[in-house]
Amino acid sequence: MKIDGKHYTTVWRELDCTESFSIIDQRTLPHKFVIEELSSVAAVAAAIQDMHVRGAPAIGATACYGMFLAFVEAKANQAKNSSEEIEKAVIDASKLLAATRPTAVNLFFGIDAQLVAADFSKPIEWQIENAIAVADAFAKEERERSRQIGLHGVSLLEEISKKKDGEVVNILTHCNAGWLACVDYGTATAPIYEAHERGIPVHVWVDETRPRNQGARLTAWELGQHGIPHTVIVDNAGGHLMQHGLVDIVIVGSDRTTARGDVGNKIGTYLKALAAADNEVPFYVALPSSTIDWAMQDGVAEMPIEKRGGEEVSYIHGRADSGEITRVLLTPEKSAVANYAFDVTPARFVKGLITERGVCAACPSALKEMYPKLSSNV
Ligand code: MRU
Repeated sequence: MKIDGKHYTTVWRELDCTESFSIIDQRTLPHKFVIEELSSVAAVAAAIQDMHVRGAPAIGATACYGMFLAFVEAKANQAKNSSEEIEKAVIDASKLLAATRPTAVNLFFGIDAQLVAADFSKPIEWQIENAIAVADAFAKEERERSRQIGLHGVSLLEEISKKKDGEVVNILTHCNAGWLACVDYGTATAPIYEAHERGIPVHVWVDETRPRNQGARLTAWELGQHGIPHTVIVDNAGGHLMQHGLVDIVIVGSDRTTARGDVGNKIGTYLKALAAADNEVPFYVALPSSTIDWAMQDGVAEMPIEKRGGEEVSYIHGRADSGEITRVLLTPEKSAVANYAFDVTPARFVKGLITERGVCAACPSALKEMYPKLSSNV
């Protein structure tokens, strides 16, 4: 995606960088654009945990790059180490990265890609080169999956546009399932960007997405950079808009989708799905195969839901009139707060899944048919 005319991805490695990689630090957006260079496994773990980088596919790609630094660090500490010691150091690094955020399954997919490709019997120089190649390929494939989601999902928007005789198609989205959450293009936003490219008039209702406001801060910024008409709404407005015919389709992303099509996504997604069902608004989820957990069925019962620090609820971040990026306290100092970061929308509320292979029903047979190999690898 372009920012002020320059192409960026969310996570990348400069070609000559063999000891670090870069991310866009999302914490200061939309007020300040900051690039952060990561050069240690500990820094990568902190960047994921503290959400410098967030969004399921972006987390996966970041973790995959983080793993290449594990090999670099193993070499630096090599004074006396054997292949067993290198293996142990890399496994320890993978555990550190895996402990950062529990819900997005892409995290584990990115780490596993490295562990599967590793050969600890080879010289460490080979292992580093291999890990770099794996991370570069992983990011490239994730980018391509998002691009394909756009190409498949756009047909839904085209259909609505035709039904409405070319009138503006109103899409509601929650959180940020845009290019910042992926390597590029986004998942929920990919069909929207594609529709815009094709000249289909679109308008996006952007849920602010408390507590961290990924919608208000990130989705709104992304769409604005791309010239896509959008309106930020408070999280509770969606149902009202749907009752008044102002939403044609809901498209959200996912952090983990189960083999039967239950969808884990940012807290509040489930309530949007309920409102959509009551108002017969089609509710779609856009996700790459890297987000599918083939070993899990019942999302409500089985999915690990991240609980984050209460200060994300009790404080709100923004830019003061003075220009300073700061935070202010919202709640009484002594009030208890709870911060559940994700919820699960059962498959019965999902009209369809938009994947890199096409649009399918949210049910086990359709997912199996779409991914015969992956679904049988459990
Ligand atoms: O806590 P976050 O910001 O990482 O949560 C992100 C979401 O819930 C996104 O909707 C999801 O990762 C899909 S990203 C394409």
